[in-house]
Amino acid sequence: MLVSFITLLRKARHDGAAPEAPKPVSYPPNKAAEEYPDVWQNMAYIKSREEYDVMYQRSIKDPNGFWRDIAVKEYAWQTEPHEHHYTSNFDVRKGKVFSRWFRGGKTNMCYNCLDRHVEAGHGGERAFIFEGNSPGVQAEATYAEALSEVNRLANWLKAQGVRRGDFVALYMPMILELPYAMLACARIGAVHAVVFGGFSAEALAGRIEGCKAKVLITCSATMRGAKPVNLKAIADEGCEHAKAKGHEVPKVLVYHNPECGKREDVNMVAGRDEFWQDAVPHQSPQCPVEWVDAEHPLFLLYTSGSTGKPKGVVHATGGFMVFVGQTTKYVFAVHPGDVFWCTADCGWVTGHSYVTYGPLLQRATSLVFEGVPTYPTPSRCWEVVDKWQVKQFYTAPTLIRSLMRFGDDYVARCDRSSLRILGSVGEPINPEAWRWYRDVVGSGKCCVCDTWFQTETGGHMIVNLPSAWTEKPGSASLPFFGVQPCLCDEKGREVPGVAEGTLCIKTSWPGAIRGVFGDQKRFEETYFKPFPGHYFSGDGARRDEDGYYWITGRVDDVINVSGHRIGTAEVESALVAHKHVAESAVVGYNHPIKGQGIWAFVTLKEGEEYSDTLKKELITTVRTEIGPFAAPDVIHWAPGLPKTRSGKIMRRILRKIAANKLDELGDTSTLADPAVVQVLIDMRGK
Ligand code: WT7
Repeated sequence: MLVSFITLLRKARHDGAAPEAPKPVSYPPNKAAEEYPDVWQNMAYIKSREEYDVMYQRSIKDPNGFWRDIAVKEYAWQTEPHEHHYTSNFDVRKGKVFSRWFRGGKTNMCYNCLDRHVEAGHGGERAFIFEGNSPGVQAEATYAEALSEVNRLANWLKAQGVRRGDFVALYMPMILELPYAMLACARIGAVHAVVFGGFSAEALAGRIEGCKAKVLITCSATMRGAKPVNLKAIADEGCEHAKAKGHEVPKVLVYHNPECGKREDVNMVAGRDEFWQDAVPHQSPQCPVEWVDAEHPLFLLYTSGSTGKPKGVVHATGGFMVFVGQTTKYVFAVHPGDVFWCTADCGWVTGHSYVTYGPLLQRATSLVFEGVPTYPTPSRCWEVVDKWQVKQFYTAPTLIRSLMRFGDDYVARCDRSSLRILGSVGEPINPEAWRWYRDVVGSGKCCVCDTWFQTETGGHMIVNLPSAWTEKPGSASLPFFGVQPCLCDEKGREVPGVAEGTLCIKTSWPGAIRGVFGDQKRFEETYFKPFPGHYFSGDGARRDEDGYYWITGRVDDVINVSGHRIGTAEVESALVAHKHVAESAVVGYNHPIKGQGIWAFVTLKEGEEYSDTLKKELITTVRTEIGPFAAPDVIHWAPGLPKTRSGKIMRRILRKIAANKLDELGDTSTLADPAVVQVLIDMRGK
């Protein structure tokens, strides 16, 4: 046997046959390329799955070289990163978990977003377009103008004693001053913590206190459709609560929004508060750049998990910069001058990555919209698209579904011919919404790019590269360069091929979370302990025969409401803050517009009366504890909750009751008191 093998080998050598090279994988013809000729020919950077494969393979075989080449070629550094700049450990069993990218490099995010383009002679190009809540309220800012504004604010911050590494909290509506404030922080090495304008005073206080913000930048008020929101009043209350928790914000800068109310009517605290319009214009429009290490924190952004209080996710300058710049470029096929509109609020990660930083890194024009998509009519988005000739439009499935309800006419009456790419993010897009988005909004001529990512990932992880391959509605398709997803079974073993499991990421990527603010233990426990060796995403997913990923939703106790992550534990603790509530258990249920809605089971204290008035009060409690977007859709009175003998609430049963799938309750025999299930069923709708 051995002899014959050697003979064969010799024979082969003698014949001069080379060892067989791996055959390039061939894929079915790419229909997307034919369907979207303009994107394919004139915009896309990657034109086929084969081309993607080559680049992807290099990105995972040589992450150090792959990312360094890009970083050095496409970004500005005061000092370039080391030849070997990347180290990480994702395996808790091997010690401390960490990621470091572009070590040795010194850079500045603001310099890369603004100065770099101005210095290269592009100062006259548009950096931002502002579209106000009311049609007709608008503004444009060139790169040079944006730079001056940012510098003035940066100088003001420095005058308040804000230094490298200090935290600045931002509680603002979607006006240009919000990205300016983010950029001003980045310029001086301060770390911004943006708090979404929909959060309550209580939630704002927790965040201000959490990072000991040196300055709070806020706004007098904002209009959301026909409704004014008095942000300053909430900010004041937030500062009060923060003080009670032990941290007093020394300085508050207030942008007076001329669209809502007179300046005289804004409550100002003497010695602490100052109007932006009084303070900032006097500052010099020049401000030196603070060069920071690539690993210097760029921002802190709080996000919900399945347990405890929201976590402060920390992102690092260099990695985040390179990663969001590249995802913006490839996923949206962005070229300088493109008008790019991401409808997300800067209070969420999508706004950080794809309103402020990504588009500017690619020298595009980012559109900032203060209003709501249905005001004054459900045509608003498409009117804005026409007015500014938007090329890339990026939104969440919930918005698509809500506009779909108003019918096609609101869309059809607008031209929309400038559109090329339609992005989707926040939750799996249901095929009906996908089709409406592509066929009605995009008139069948635009690529739909589904993008899966998270606050923790900084930028896109699983994406459709436009026209590089055929889309499948509902699937975000393939990993971005450098991203190595895997599916794990419940024992933590990786499952290969066509499979379903928990979505994990095997190795670090430049945009990876660097830590949970002030809590390495929680960082490791949340993301790296559940599946040792990997980053645990919290999502379930399926991989099909073409290698496409299909996200199936969260596997933990996190609810995704309109693309916003809400921890069930947070809502529960808000509910039990009410004096009449003994206990509560919150679950998600399918909601036609929001994706998921919040269903709260509530047990009252002995002797308290279950009433509709109390239901309203409880909803108000959640609105004040967290924010209006976290308000439960349903309060379900629960004289008892289904618990195991060890006292664990069986949410599985509660989810079925909420979904009205009473024949799927499963085994209830392990419950301490199986009778509570029938009581809950009887209380449905009461
Ligand atoms: C969670 C992250 C970063 C987007 C804004 C929300 C869900 C996000 C998709 C998508 C299916 C998605 C996941 C994820 N999600 N994008 N394209 N398809 N699900 O950021 O608050 O950090 O939430 O949103 O469940 O874990 P986030």
